[in-house]
Amino acid sequence: MRKLVLFSVLALGAAGTWVYAQSSGGSNAPTFTEKQAQAGETVYNTSCAMCHGKNLNDGGPAVKGDKFLAKWSGEGKTALDLYNKIATTMPKNKPGSLTQTQYEAVYAYILQQNGFKPRELQKEDLKNHTLDKK
Ligand code: HEC
Repeated sequence: MRKLVLFSVLALGAAGTWVYAQSSGGSNAPTFTEKQAQAGETVYNTSCAMCHGKNLNDGGPAVKGDKFLAKWSGEGKTALDLYNKIATTMPKNKPGSLTQTQYEAVYAYILQQNGFKPRELQKEDLKNHTLDKK
């Protein structure tokens, strides 16, 4: 089991690198730092993984992948919509129970796991960012 998890992490890492090279998003790509994404992994594993799965797409509703991104990008959608969804309705069994720092971190982790590159997060800019990868 431990081996399998390690393998998944490595595979994810490799896939992530490939995605970065493919598409890191344009100038309105969402922003976050490497540090936030790292902290977000802990938040995710503690508060989200039991419902959304350890790999973000192996539990309840997937928070990673094309379908997920399609839902949160496109006409009229901004990164703030996704952030607010997380910060005001999650964890589903205890909405709003995390700190803003924790919500920013877990948002960053989800974006990183979806192939976005870290860039400094400025919350007031979220409304100008999209999750479009083209
Ligand atoms: C008790 C189970 C549970 C926990 C814990 C939980 N979620 Fe959810 N989450 C759900 C369910 C069920 C849905 C689908 C219904 C909805 O959107 O409210 C959902 C939906 C979502 C969505 C939207 C998915 C989509 O398809 O657009 C996101 C993003 C999300 N959760 C993020 C998180 C994050 C981040 C955490 C941890 C801070 C978290 N969730 C914790 C159950 C949970």
